[in-house]
Amino acid sequence: KSATAAVILDKDFLVFGHRGASGYAPEHTLLSYQLAKELGADYLEIDLQQTKDGELVALHDPDVNRTTDGTGNAADFTLAELQQLDAGSWFNKKYPAKAKPEYAGLTIPSLRQVFQTFGNEVNYCLEIKTPDAGIEGKLLSLLDEFNLLEDPKSANVIIQSFSAESLQSVHRVQPDIPLIKLMDWYSPLVTSEKELKEIKQYAMGIGVSQLWSTPAFEKKVRSADLALYPFSVNDAASLFKVAHTGTLGVYTDYIDTISAYK
Ligand code: G3P
Ligand code: CA
Repeated sequence: KSATAAVILDKDFLVFGHRGASGYAPEHTLLSYQLAKELGADYLEIDLQQTKDGELVALHDPDVNRTTDGTGNAADFTLAELQQLDAGSWFNKKYPAKAKPEYAGLTIPSLRQVFQTFGNEVNYCLEIKTPDAGIEGKLLSLLDEFNLLEDPKSANVIIQSFSAESLQSVHRVQPDIPLIKLMDWYSPLVTSEKELKEIKQYAMGIGVSQLWSTPAFEKKVRSADLALYPFSVNDAASLFKVAHTGTLGVYTDYIDTISAYK
C-alpha cells in the first residue's frame, strides 16, 4: 500500500472512467457508463451541469454545442427540452471507426436516471462544474435519496471540483465524503506546499493534468499527504510517465488499456 493516507476502496491504484468509457462511446451517456462498468472502472467520472428547471444532468460543457445536435447553454433548457437532443450522433460523425448505430439518438441523462440505472453497483466520482448555482445542496440531497451517503467513508462516492469553495461547502455538511481538488492548467507551477496543505484540510487528493504530474510536483503533493490523480491518461507510455510513487490512480478514456498495466 502507498505511504499516503489516501488509500481509497482499499486499492493501490484507481481507474476513473473519464466521462464513462469516452474513448469508445459518446461521453456522458448511459451507454458510456454501462461500458465503463463492464470494463471494470473503479469510478464513473461524471460532470454535472444544471438545467433551467434545476435538474442535475451529466454534461461536461456548459453548452450543448459540442456533444449534441442542439445549440445553447444547458441552463437555458428544461430537462424535458434537453432530452429532446441527440447526444450520440456527434460521436459517430467524429469517430467513424468507432461509430455504432445504437449511439444515434442517445440522450443526456439526468443524474437521477444515472442513479436509477446503476444504484450502488458502481462507484461515482461526481464533478461539480457550476458551483455558484446551489448545486452542492441538490447533489447531496439526491445522493441521500438514493442511499449513497450511508457510509461516506467507504468512498462509494467521491466529489471533485476545480472550485475550492464548492468543495469546502460540501465538506462543511458532509465531512466524511472524500473530495478531490482539481487544479487549473498551470497551477502546479505556482502552488506552494503551504497551499497544498490548505487543500488537505478538506480534500484527500488532487487531480491534475498529466503534463504537470512531474516527480517534483508529486514530491510536494506527497509532503502534504495528498493523493495525486493525473488526467487524462490514455496509453501505456503516458501511464509510465505519470506513475510516480504518489500517483494513486488516473482518469482515463480507455479503462481497459490502463487496467492492463496498473
Ligand atoms: O476528472 C478530471 C477531469 O475530468 C477534469 O477535466 O475537463 O475533463 O472535466 P475535465
Ligand atoms: Ca470531469
